[in-house]
Amino acid sequence: MTPQAPAFVDVRAPRVDRSIKLPVLLRGIGVRQVRLTTGLVMFTYIFSHFFNHALGNISYETMEAWLRFHVWWWRIPVVNYTLYTAACIHFSLGLWALYQRRHFRYTAIEITQLVLGLSIPLWLASHFGAVRLNGALYGLAPPNYAGPLYAYWVLRPHMIAVQFILLTVAWTHACIGLYFWLRLKSFFSWAAPILLAVAVLMPPLAMIGAHHGGREVAELGQDPDWRKKNLRGTPAAQRQVIDNITLFYFPIGYAAAIILVFAARGTRTLRERRRGLFTITYPDRQVRVPKGLSILEASLRYKIPHASVCGGRARCSTCRVRVVGDRATLPPPSGREAFVLDRIGVSANPSIRLACQLRPQSDVSVIPLLPPSMNADLLRKGRRMNIGKERYIVSMFVDMRGSTRLAEARLPFDVVFLINRFLGACSQAALDAGGQPNQFVGDGVLALFGIDADPATACRQALQAAANVATNVDHMNRQLASDLPEPIQYGLGIHGGDVIIGDIGFRDHTVFTALGDPVNVAARLQDMTKTLDCKAIVSEEVFVTASVAADALTRTEIAIRGREEPMIVRTAVDPSAFASLLERAGDRTLAGAVSNAQ
Ligand code: FES
Repeated sequence: MTPQAPAFVDVRAPRVDRSIKLPVLLRGIGVRQVRLTTGLVMFTYIFSHFFNHALGNISYETMEAWLRFHVWWWRIPVVNYTLYTAACIHFSLGLWALYQRRHFRYTAIEITQLVLGLSIPLWLASHFGAVRLNGALYGLAPPNYAGPLYAYWVLRPHMIAVQFILLTVAWTHACIGLYFWLRLKSFFSWAAPILLAVAVLMPPLAMIGAHHGGREVAELGQDPDWRKKNLRGTPAAQRQVIDNITLFYFPIGYAAAIILVFAARGTRTLRERRRGLFTITYPDRQVRVPKGLSILEASLRYKIPHASVCGGRARCSTCRVRVVGDRATLPPPSGREAFVLDRIGVSANPSIRLACQLRPQSDVSVIPLLPPSMNADLLRKGRRMNIGKERYIVSMFVDMRGSTRLAEARLPFDVVFLINRFLGACSQAALDAGGQPNQFVGDGVLALFGIDADPATACRQALQAAANVATNVDHMNRQLASDLPEPIQYGLGIHGGDVIIGDIGFRDHTVFTALGDPVNVAARLQDMTKTLDCKAIVSEEVFVTASVAADALTRTEIAIRGREEPMIVRTAVDPSAFASLLERAGDRTLAGAVSNAQ
């Protein structure tokens, strides 16, 4: 059986230019990046604070010792200013994001993060009032654990639950945000278990630590001298003022802010409706949406499958689309969009845009470029999604001979087992030589060389792979000698040249494909091994490009269908001979590669 349509899925990491200059980096800063940065500042604070609680598992003394360092650091004026500014900006940008979002098709994890994030100010209000507002309005109380622990564990025990809920809510919200950010990083695969352990262990450790501290303080508090020295009571009038602010005025103000956001959303919707609709044409359908919606928001609104690993945060580039036809009326890419497009190397192509950032004002036709099934895992592993380019590639077709005869007297299970063993032997041969097995059709395999290598290397890799195939199939035949009526035979063809490589297919069913005459020629060479009674046919051009002398092999001129000129090829009855030719040519690295497929 001969493979006809060369196609393969490439799972190698994409190359990203890391040498990004400062101006480019600054251009890439958008609202999301500011939100992330301010979130990280606050995460540093809560991490130190919760770690401080967790030290209560050692002793109340240890808690106080770390608190002195914690307070010293966070009350350095510039650090303190940064923290409060970050908190204000992060909170404001959270409301802004709520306003900006045009749809509520949240995933469970997104809705959890949103609800928890919005509830933090309410849970935090009383603690902030007691610890910071008290000091700010009525003079700074000496920062220690004694006051809050005594207040919560002795005077107002119901507040323990409020504090523990606050701790859990804030920590979970922060961890989800970090997860969204870090899951796209290449190190996440190995770091995830460690990060998960820290994320899961911190809240209980902090709660148990605080509880131990609280119990210790409750005991110490039975001593009037200790109370006099460590606790400073808040007069009832002052406490009333603080309670009024934190438990009455603040929640009202906060609720008003959220109502205002939704009112603004409603106003915007009405305004957009008045401005009219525009049509987005996808490959298989058309939708009419109000002006102002991004392409991705339109996809989500109409349940059109569309990859968006980062959830529209302009980080992942998986939502990218090709705009077909007139682009004159499209708004230019924002700084952030341009930065992301630049990072993936498509900024020179104005037809490629990020669907989550592009908000057309008139009819537009788009084609999503990545399959909707694209996820963070695939992205981290760097699944290559090629939009098409020309490249010198060497193709090697290997086909099993006599598989139909082999299948006649065997159970289906045995046939599949044998074919898989054969394909495994050939694939491993290609991998060991530096190539890639790309397509399996029946009992044949197509391997490609040169996706990341120069033409000479690609040709040498292909020759080494052919030698590896001979070694591996030979080994397999010896191993299965008692099960086989005769050794498994094969034919292989190798040819190289410029081909088009890129992803083709439909939605989730795209494959990385090499298209072009050289690929077809390699398939034909493989087919001609039957008539020329040999195991391998390699075009002369491959030996020349590889700088490998092929004088020891039979030179033949053959006619290839569709070509005017005859083609010079070298035939080999035993492709393992290629290894010694490579060795003689001085390429010890490749010639030394021995397949371990079996
Ligand atoms: S969805 Fe990630 S960049 Fe658009």
